[in-house]
Amino acid sequence: MRCPACGGESPDGKRFCRSCGGSLAAVCSACGAKLEPDDQFCGDCGAPVGGPVAAPAASASRSDAAQSVQCSSPTTERRLCSVLFVDLVGFTPLAEKRDPEEVQEVLSAYFERAQAIIGRYGGTVEKFIGDAVMAVWGAPVANEDDAERSVRAALEVVGSVAELGRNADLEDLAARAGVVTGEVAITVGKVAEGMVVGDTVNAASRVQNMAPRGAVLVDEATWRAASGAVAFSKVGLIHLKGKAEPVHAWRALRVVAERRGVGRHAGPEPPFVGRDEDLRLVKDLLHATALERRARVVSITGVPGIGKSRLVWELRKYVDGLAETVYWHEGRSLAYGVAITFWALGEMVRMRARINESDDTVASRSKLVACVAEFVTDSEEQRWVEARLAHLLGLTDAPPGEREELFSAWRTFFERIASRGPTVMIFEDLQRADPGLVDFVESILEWSRNYPILVVTLARPELMDRRPTWGAGLRNFTALHLEPLPGHAMAELLSGFVQGLRDDVADKVREHAEGVPLYAVETIHMLVDRGVLVESDGAYRVAGELGTLEIPESLHALIASRLDTLPAKQRSLLEDAAVVGRTFTTASLAVLHSEDQASLEAQLRELVRREFLSLDNDPRSSERGQYGFVQDLIREVAYSTLSRRDRSAKHLAVARHLESLADEELTSLVAAHYLEARRAAPSGTEAAEVVVGDRDWLARAGQRALSLGSPEQALSFFEQALELTGPGEDRAGLLVLAGEAAGRALAYNRALEHLEEAIGSYETAGDTNAVGRATAVLARVLEGLYRFSDEIQRAQQAFEAVGGDGDARVRADLAWELAMAHANCGSSQRALEWSETALALAEHLDDRALLARAILTKSFALFNLGRHREAVMLIRGQVALADAAGSLTERAWARSHLTVFVSDDDPREALSAGMEAAELWRRAGYREYEVMQLRPRNRSSSGSGAARVPPPRNFDRTSFCRNRRSTASRRCWRHSRGTRQRLRPASSGTPTDWLRPSPSPYEPPT
Ligand SMILES: Nc1ncnc2c1ncn2[C@@H]1O[C@H](COP(=O)(O)OP(=O)(O)OP(=O)(O)O)[C@@H](O)[C@H]1O
Ligand SMILES: [Mg+2]
Repeated sequence: MRCPACGGESPDGKRFCRSCGGSLAAVCSACGAKLEPDDQFCGDCGAPVGGPVAAPAASASRSDAAQSVQCSSPTTERRLCSVLFVDLVGFTPLAEKRDPEEVQEVLSAYFERAQAIIGRYGGTVEKFIGDAVMAVWGAPVANEDDAERSVRAALEVVGSVAELGRNADLEDLAARAGVVTGEVAITVGKVAEGMVVGDTVNAASRVQNMAPRGAVLVDEATWRAASGAVAFSKVGLIHLKGKAEPVHAWRALRVVAERRGVGRHAGPEPPFVGRDEDLRLVKDLLHATALERRARVVSITGVPGIGKSRLVWELRKYVDGLAETVYWHEGRSLAYGVAITFWALGEMVRMRARINESDDTVASRSKLVACVAEFVTDSEEQRWVEARLAHLLGLTDAPPGEREELFSAWRTFFERIASRGPTVMIFEDLQRADPGLVDFVESILEWSRNYPILVVTLARPELMDRRPTWGAGLRNFTALHLEPLPGHAMAELLSGFVQGLRDDVADKVREHAEGVPLYAVETIHMLVDRGVLVESDGAYRVAGELGTLEIPESLHALIASRLDTLPAKQRSLLEDAAVVGRTFTTASLAVLHSEDQASLEAQLRELVRREFLSLDNDPRSSERGQYGFVQDLIREVAYSTLSRRDRSAKHLAVARHLESLADEELTSLVAAHYLEARRAAPSGTEAAEVVVGDRDWLARAGQRALSLGSPEQALSFFEQALELTGPGEDRAGLLVLAGEAAGRALAYNRALEHLEEAIGSYETAGDTNAVGRATAVLARVLEGLYRFSDEIQRAQQAFEAVGGDGDARVRADLAWELAMAHANCGSSQRALEWSETALALAEHLDDRALLARAILTKSFALFNLGRHREAVMLIRGQVALADAAGSLTERAWARSHLTVFVSDDDPREALSAGMEAAELWRRAGYREYEVMQLRPRNRSSSGSGAARVPPPRNFDRTSFCRNRRSTASRRCWRHSRGTRQRLRPASSGTPTDWLRPSPSPYEPPT
């Protein structure tokens, strides 16, 4: 029997070739389907039998473009292509010792993997010959980075064969590959064997034959095209069979950058070792996310320097080489004494919109508008999303709506991106994030679960102290804790990083490193600093006398000793940079350094060369052109060497510089620098100045955090500001803000404490308007605690004290609080009167939001008083008003009210309003309201299928708390129905009863 692949003879009846181990079953040359011995034509595609042997399933890997080309009649073209040949080394002797079925299984797995990998990198499998695979890049569709992709694919196929061998207990299984780039003739329209012919094809096959096991050899043209992203070592001249002249060859080592060299290290990068399984897991999760269209979170934790960022860097290089577009976003939480609100998320948005640090507000806004328009097609949604992203970036004031709606809009942006293709969001240094950001990350899993979004979070173990519940109860959450690297991996790292390192030195480094790769890397850098090692061929080699190596015990001491070897100028520059931050612009560093820009740049470039800093050259990065520390630990050590006095002065200088930029997004950054300046400041007059700046900026940062929906962080900002504020310095104003933040963060007791202190000091000062303003906030807290009669008493007293001539704003707020409080107590007549007062004042103040709230309360009171038609008329008007200019939440509330009001008289309208409300609740980020809206009403009497509605409520305070909503809401609901039906007295359930589907808190009337 003749093997269809290699042509070798095997005895009849055998299923596998004894020369190459390939299947002896005949396959169709056109489609690869299996043929029976007597077949004249293929039973699957009808092609005549007898043509050349097909690559099994080759057509399955063709791109769409190739398939479209297939339809036209074949023509021949000359093209520049990269041709890959890969085959198994020594497979025949291995196969002989194994059961043929096992051999076939391994072969099939190899073919499958090779085909999948080649396809992912945009290549086309041309044919399978025995255990060899031939693939082409550049035909039928050409891309500028074809050569680079072919080498990436070759490296991955060879790597995956080694892994296959390990898994199949075939330790000796290995592959080798050859890639050659050159002109070929391609038959356009042909998809099976023979599409590509020419000398390049023969050369690739021969280069592959010269490759040692496990190696990828390439020719000069491929090396030139791919060397930006791939590290090579020069092999020299090789003689190819049938060629008169020898050719130059290079061995591809590993991928070291994104396409065309973006992100490449200034110096050699250690080979990636010991984490193949972790990387494979993350890659698999990415592919599963794309395939199943399901959001996932991968949480990677580990001690400093263990390799979290490196793992992500490997993923990024991989993703960047894929043919499929993956939308990649990266953001880091900054390392200051306080978290910078939502910074990492802002960075991702800026990255997507290509907003750079140097862009002013107008340029940033227009880039944002264009970016949102690109991904969000619905014009209404576009406006809604853009306004909320603009607020995130500090480009506009807060739009209407609360935290839920902000989060929802931000998620919608990423969901729309994910509708285009798999989307990755990398949150670095999550241990430094504000609680709001962690909430947001969790909300992606809950809300965006049907989108292909892979969230990867990196954190040091402190995250679990700050957020012990991180990941608990979340579906599609994978936790990956990076353990120290095993000894053999460290040895591999060292031998790949440094050529000719003495064994005793390598052992010593390994011992000290205890599995932390950063330690090994920094030791090598220390030797480079001393001139003992020099760069050579993408790695280091020993060039001096190593002697007895003294290595500092701790990583901290090791880095400190490296810093000590720097010239004084560069060292002080690093210390200054450490004050500015992990990344910085030359302009911000110039604030601390009087040197001219050119000499500063020269010093910085030298620090890049010495592997202390890196320069961001990624055209997609919002930090393009900025310098950054290669390791956070280097920054931390450099910072720790500064004296307290210097630290304080430098932080103050940076704070003032940032202040002068007048950029809203930098508010918490300015506050952080003032805070650090104060913490490090010696007592004295200068300190007093720092204190004032710190207090003011902490207050501003608190207000920004509050408006971005991070009340816990806002409270911490305000309370820190309060610590710096004496009685005579508008302490009361800060107390009111702290009280408001505490209320929103559900810290009611702290809220009461702050507000009562504020009211007390305003009363002492005789400032009745200010007392009224603080009391309006207090009223909300009392309502949250269900202390309605206290609420009424305090608000009424304050309203009377303010009097008719008092501040209209204060009167309006108090009037509306009183309307709500009476509605909550069931005093509809009083609620009606107070909402009338609030309405008049809202008109006077031209306050659209208050107008909307007061209309809702009034309509509700009218309905409870039996004046149903008026209530319906009013609420229809409110639906129109909210649709014209309101937030989604306002629009949802109006419809929810309408549903209640018309449910008995017009169930059809109730149903449609209810459905619209449910949709609006969902879009605004209120799942529980959506669910309530959709639940069938539990009415024993009519059983009309009208949609169930959430209780009509104060819509602008929903983030106050869930449980606060609940009981009060339940009461509202009962009052609203009380005019028509007799209800059971309220049961004494827990505040969250209403969230549970059963038993229903809305019992049917008895
Ligand atoms: N698996 C690995 N193989 C080779 N080198 C590694 C590996 N993991 C990390 N390194 C190297 O060790 C150094 C520190 O790694 P990395 O920056 O990823 O640490 P990290 O865990 O992110 O630390 P941090 O908590 O400070 O952010 C880098 O130079 C990196 O290239
Ligand atoms: Mg890191």
